[in-house]
Amino acid sequence: MKFLIVGDVVGSSGISKLSEELPKIRKEENIDYCIVNGENSANGKGIRLKEYNKILSIGADVITMGNHVYYRKEMINEYIKLPKLLIPENITNLKANGHIIENIKGKRICTINLIGKACMGDKLEQNSSNPFKKIDEILEQIKKESVDYIFLDFHAEATAEKIAMGYFLEGKVTCVFGTHTHVQTSDEKIIGNETAYITDVGMTGPSDSVIGLKKEIALKRFVNEEYAKYECSTNNSIFNAIIVDTDDTTNKPIKIKRINKD
Ligand SMILES: [Fe+2]
Ligand SMILES: [Fe+2]
Repeated sequence: MKFLIVGDVVGSSGISKLSEELPKIRKEENIDYCIVNGENSANGKGIRLKEYNKILSIGADVITMGNHVYYRKEMINEYIKLPKLLIPENITNLKANGHIIENIKGKRICTINLIGKACMGDKLEQNSSNPFKKIDEILEQIKKESVDYIFLDFHAEATAEKIAMGYFLEGKVTCVFGTHTHVQTSDEKIIGNETAYITDVGMTGPSDSVIGLKKEIALKRFVNEEYAKYECSTNNSIFNAIIVDTDDTTNKPIKIKRINKD
């Protein structure tokens, strides 16, 4: 099977780019299943129903989230009602789905969303549990579900924590992909011929920006060390994603390829 995984979609420019590229790639590459990280789709901060519906209509099968789950207060009680939306399962103070199992072309596919503990800020530090222990719990829980493929969106800041997760899950899941840092890494590999891995898929969002933020605002913050309100850049977007191919006889990944389009 072929899986397309798209990195954090940022703002309306990111959504436009997603609508340009995703349907085309789905068709050209014969994609069977598509995971999109949508945590920045609502003007850079969180997701609303509007973006949830839009991303699914463009061609995503499931939408994952990250630290921006708290930003849209009106959504806090809505997440649980959205069947195709995942929030990190190790966040302890929100009710929502943290993983989903779907039947596609005779295979059972599980997507899981988790958040890192390192350098994610005090609020998340307090409101999340150990992601390594949590994934063990989830894998135990889904053992009886006869799942063929497991994909983990590990939304984390620290490269070391993401790499550690890749090795921790060698042979236990199909693919561990990192999100959150919005810069695509070039370390894609298949760990031990068992688990496809990349530290960060990257961003589908404004290219001439500081990870989606207007660059003038970022410079005020960094150079002058002063508060400046977040403003999402509206510049043209890049499209960052990966494609993972699997062998349907062994259910193992055979190829991981990066996509980076202007
Ligand atoms: Fe994030
Ligand atoms: Fe993000």
